[in-house]
Amino acid sequence: MALPARPRARLLLAAIAGAVALLLPGAAEARVLLSLDDFGAVGDGIANDTQAFVDAWEAACATGGNTYLNVPAGKSYQIWPVTLAGPCRGEINLMISGNIIAPESPEEWADGDQGRWLHFSGVGDLSLSGGGIVDGRGQQWWAGACEDENCTSYRQHQVAPMALHFEDCQDVSVKGLTLQNSQRQHLVFTRCYNVEANYLRVTSPEYSPGTAGVLVVSSTNVHIKDDLFSVGGDCVSIVGNCSDVRLRAISCGPGLGISIGGLGENQSNHKIEKIKTDTMFISNTKNGVRVKTYEDGCGFARKVKFAQIMMRNVANPIVIDQHYSASNRGTRCGAPNGSAVAVENINYIDITGTSATEQAVTFACSDAMPCRRLYLDGVNLTTAGGDSTSAFCHQAFGKHVGDVLPESCLGKEDFVQLQAPTAGDAQDEEDAADW
Ligand SMILES: *[C@@H]1O[C@H](CO)[C@@H](O)[C@H](O)[C@H]1NC(C)=O
Ligand SMILES: *[C@@H]1O[C@H](CO)[C@@H](O)[C@H](O)[C@H]1NC(C)=O
Ligand SMILES: *[C@@H]1O[C@H](CO)[C@@H](O)[C@H](O)[C@H]1NC(C)=O
Ligand SMILES: *[C@@H]1O[C@H](CO)[C@@H](O)[C@H](O)[C@H]1NC(C)=O
Ligand SMILES: *[C@@H]1O[C@H](CO)[C@@H](O)[C@H](O)[C@H]1NC(C)=O
Ligand SMILES: *[C@@H]1O[C@H](CO)[C@@H](O)[C@H](O)[C@H]1NC(C)=O
Repeated sequence: MALPARPRARLLLAAIAGAVALLLPGAAEARVLLSLDDFGAVGDGIANDTQAFVDAWEAACATGGNTYLNVPAGKSYQIWPVTLAGPCRGEINLMISGNIIAPESPEEWADGDQGRWLHFSGVGDLSLSGGGIVDGRGQQWWAGACEDENCTSYRQHQVAPMALHFEDCQDVSVKGLTLQNSQRQHLVFTRCYNVEANYLRVTSPEYSPGTAGVLVVSSTNVHIKDDLFSVGGDCVSIVGNCSDVRLRAISCGPGLGISIGGLGENQSNHKIEKIKTDTMFISNTKNGVRVKTYEDGCGFARKVKFAQIMMRNVANPIVIDQHYSASNRGTRCGAPNGSAVAVENINYIDITGTSATEQAVTFACSDAMPCRRLYLDGVNLTTAGGDSTSAFCHQAFGKHVGDVLPESCLGKEDFVQLQAPTAGDAQDEEDAADW
């Protein structure tokens, strides 16, 4: 980190002062440097450094200007579940140069700690970087969920922690870190605005249940770029009400692939739009790019673009599943004979490579709300042996351009039998080229 020379003396002074790291009142662009060790952290991988972390956060949060909080290199800080809350007075740069590790035993999680480990709530202007490691040490959590030796089947541990969770946040970036062996999802953004997750290396074993890379929940303006995901769960999963989510230059696999949904669980209303993903390499995953919705939900997933994707040995490269799981029949979404989350204007462009199964494309849409305006261009998927693959369509409408392999099974839009009003705008037709 390059800091201007002038405030250096002040910086050192601030560091020495530790918790009392306030600068002269009125200093315009104050910069403060704090270290976890100034707050009594031990960093031997055994001691409980939670209180030091909380105290350091509170000091950083109370400081105006631009605060750097360093987690020193070459050490391991064991942190129990915590919530670090904002809003803070200034901008915080949490520099994780060393390791932050979780307690290994699920028994260390008290009742009130369910679902959390490093939980940031209500923060803005926060960046995490530093090249260090955040290790959830989730082995015991996974073992508790697995039902056989290799964890090919498991019961999801509903209370397992999200390792790094940002809730109700704004202007947050997580860059240049290794996130590994999370108890459940590695990185979660819930109700956030303007976030970045770049230059991350996210790894867990292939058979570690629920260890998604990034989970984006009801967030807007999310950029996920230049990352490597090798996990047990979805590489990236987008759920709730989200818009303007951009994925780019991502390597994904093993794991479950890229997923939009499940949407509409328990007849909820979910709205996902303007999702662009491009320049991705997806290998050895269960799914490639998937949109999945529950029956009887409402809302939509629309204006989605999957482009420039190379697949290798992916079991289900392209999937839309509107029957992800039947939830309770009901009328909350206003359609007496069953409803569905509308799936429309989904674009697949330049998707090539190999499928591990013969059926490379699956568009399983619902009778209540057929998929509309699906678009295929430059899709070429073969089996690893070079054989041709097949596509499955049920109530799937749209068009393809040029030769696509497997051959398109989309029905023509003209024939779509709409039983429910479309969730799209009339103006969508003009937008098609952009998506
Ligand atoms: C570790 O410290 C935190 C914060 O003081 C505390 O809540 C937690 O119970 C401690 N854990 C153990 C095992 O002592
Ligand atoms: C687990 O994986 C190992 C190595 O791949 C294999 O030899 C073993 O048969 C598997 N066990 C089960 C129960 O599938
Ligand atoms: C999504 O937005 C709709 C209204 O547009 C709201 O009813 C629903 O609760 C929201 N869902 C979530 C998960 O925020
Ligand atoms: C949906 O309902 C089931 C059963 O009531 C519950 O276990 C589950 O947590 C609910 N899911 C959501 C997202 O609310
Ligand atoms: C609901 O389904 C029943 C039986 O299939 C049918 O008679 C009725 O017209 C349907 N109602 C609507 C609103 O589609
Ligand atoms: C599809 O890919 C295969 C293997 O890379 C290639 O041989 C074939 O020419 C491609 N077909 C089209 C239509 O691009």
